[in-house]
Amino acid sequence: MKKFIFAVFIGLLMVLTMAPVEVNAADSSELDQPLQTMAEANDLLIGTAVRYWSLENDPIYREVLAREFNVITVENMMKFSFIHPSQDEYDFTRADTIVDFAQQNDMKIRGHCLVWNQSLPSWLTEGDWSRDELIKILRDHIKTVVKHYRGQVFAWDVLNEAVAGGGRLRQTFWYQGIGQEYLGMVFRWAHQADPNALLFYNDYLCEGLNRKSDGIYDLMKKLVKYNIPIDGIGLQMHLNLDDNPTPEDITANMERLAALGLEIHVTEMTVYIWYEVTQEKLEKQAEIYRDIMEICLSVDACTTFVMWGFTDLHSHLSDNPNRGSALIFDESYQPKPAYYALVDVLKPETSSPQSK
Ligand code: GLA
Repeated sequence: MKKFIFAVFIGLLMVLTMAPVEVNAADSSELDQPLQTMAEANDLLIGTAVRYWSLENDPIYREVLAREFNVITVENMMKFSFIHPSQDEYDFTRADTIVDFAQQNDMKIRGHCLVWNQSLPSWLTEGDWSRDELIKILRDHIKTVVKHYRGQVFAWDVLNEAVAGGGRLRQTFWYQGIGQEYLGMVFRWAHQADPNALLFYNDYLCEGLNRKSDGIYDLMKKLVKYNIPIDGIGLQMHLNLDDNPTPEDITANMERLAALGLEIHVTEMTVYIWYEVTQEKLEKQAEIYRDIMEICLSVDACTTFVMWGFTDLHSHLSDNPNRGSALIFDESYQPKPAYYALVDVLKPETSSPQSK
């Protein structure tokens, strides 16, 4: 019985979050220029992860997305289990829908993510593969997906979260099956499939200076030294109201990565608020968005600022009752203080001393 009530509750929740919402997006005339216009003046791409179901079902989501941003990341639909659901089958339809929308609206596209320890289909994880078979599977996967989007995806998160908390290599499915050589192989295959795409390593809790970011820095140094075709690093930037790395440490980390010749993208910014949401917490959240945008503008190598969603209505946390409100528009598409903090940093009067 409990299971049944839970299933009904989840069902209702899904219907509610997927249904078109009858709210008015903030009238753009009330706002300053859209974020993308101000970002362009700072030579910066600004964007968001895009959810397939929200894009399909909510016209206001589409409207605000197209108005505000000039780059998107495909949130889930390029992950292994979605795009390669059985061994001989690739399913590009949903990812293509997002890519088409982005192209129609002159947005650049970040591909996410080719190699990760999560979102792996059971045909893969439950198979009994030899090392050579796994190499072939991963090579075919990367080459097929990257070729499909050749010339369309300008930057790929090739390798996601391959380093563990202490800074050592994470014991992932791929590491265990292939060995550490997989780290270089995956970038080479992606480069062969699209020599013009920028190739990124992407990770979390490595924004400031700590054991994990030291480990990642060492790994990046090795990849560069051995001429692995890697162009940049994605700092996910999933932050909280408290307990974040200091702005000084984030800047120092970006600078040392940039000194290796790497481009830096902020790839998944969120600032989680534990309920209850109060005005004070929203103001604090805004300060954190402001700090990260200021840092990105101050570091030449930081060229792209992407958030993991833009409205709390379609957040990846909207089914979590304790944590949420992480984004810059509220559930009615009204800009939050965090939105105005970004405007404040990007608008011409304040951004000119920092612009690149
Ligand atoms: C990681 C992944 C993303 C997404 C987020 C959700 O950061 O890279 O694809 O799943 O977690 O928090």
